[in-house]
Amino acid sequence: MRIDLLSRNPQVTPEQMLEGFKPTARFGAVSFDNYHPNGDYPSQAQTRDTLREFTSNPPQPVKRLFRKPKPVEGLGFYLDGGFGVGKTHLLAASWHAFDGKKAFLSYQELLYTIGMLGMHRAIAAFQGYDLLCIDEFELDDPGNTHMTSTFLGQLMPLGTHVITTSNTQPEHLGQGRFNAEDFKRQIQAIAEHFAVLSIDGPDYRQRGAGVGKPLRKSDLTALEAQAGTHVRLTASELNLHLTRVHPARFSRMLEGIEMVLLDDLVCMSDQNIALRFVHFIDKVYDLNLNFAASGEALEQLFPATYRYGAYAKKYSRCLSRLTEMLSISAKTLDQLSSVG
Ligand SMILES: Nc1ncnc2c1ncn2[C@@H]1O[C@H](COP(=O)(O)OP(=O)(O)OP(=O)(O)O)[C@@H](O)[C@H]1O
Ligand SMILES: [Mg+2]
Repeated sequence: MRIDLLSRNPQVTPEQMLEGFKPTARFGAVSFDNYHPNGDYPSQAQTRDTLREFTSNPPQPVKRLFRKPKPVEGLGFYLDGGFGVGKTHLLAASWHAFDGKKAFLSYQELLYTIGMLGMHRAIAAFQGYDLLCIDEFELDDPGNTHMTSTFLGQLMPLGTHVITTSNTQPEHLGQGRFNAEDFKRQIQAIAEHFAVLSIDGPDYRQRGAGVGKPLRKSDLTALEAQAGTHVRLTASELNLHLTRVHPARFSRMLEGIEMVLLDDLVCMSDQNIALRFVHFIDKVYDLNLNFAASGEALEQLFPATYRYGAYAKKYSRCLSRLTEMLSISAKTLDQLSSVG
């Protein structure tokens, strides 16, 4: 059944947001056991072991006679590494292994929640959580930096542990995006909450994936004929729609959809639109939806100034994810044509 994505612009209450903070489908069943460290990169096994040890034996509040236990300051782990090295896998594995009150959310979702509730209520909402797993930590502007430093500065001393992933080393946060020098103290204060666990290695997604490239329109039609609940629209229609829906609501917008078919990918020459598209692809990927697209080659989607600019990592990651999803669809098509 084809669904009209353009008619979906869901509103999400703070309570619904909080309830939904769990690993998405792609990471619904990952664990430390099904993470296979690459022996050439010892940092992979080391990071896994550190997180396994922490989640199985986190510091506990100090018991006191006749008084409430005294919380120990929350620990912080910052998983830093290139794309596709398994950071989110390890983050979700930590969430699954940890016994306690816990939330798994993207940094975007955290900011959106703080924005929606206000700082005071957001801290109250997360106080009492034993663990926050925050995926894709980034500092894009001074406002975010201030919000993040206040939030972590107030929450972690009350005993909430935080594990986060990022493609940027903490000391380089914000660089090239805003005048990070002016916010050095705050960025430093954020970094001080975390022990950095760097993960090296190649992009796991590119293993045997081949080069993903857009398919033909007729291929999309063949996939559509087999698809369950799906959406099909042009990339331009999608991009216009995305300007009206906050990225933190993309998940809900895609609820119940199994496949996304996009026609006519074209170069996105507006950075705001390009970044929204990147977030959309992130969600499609995290939700483990099937995805296919027709149109221009992947290298043409984002102007070189974007691909090598301040958000270079976001674009590279998006291209890595598109490559993987498109090559899976190409394989599905091969299977369909060999059956037919
Ligand atoms: N060592 C590994 N063993 C098993 N699966 C892995 C391993 N590394 C990555 N994967 C799988 O490869 C895919 C990509 O990994 P993941 O999304 O965790 O990478 P990432 O470092 O978070 O990348 P990004 O920077 O793009 O967010 C996931 O499906 C993940 O489960
Ligand atoms: Mg990730």
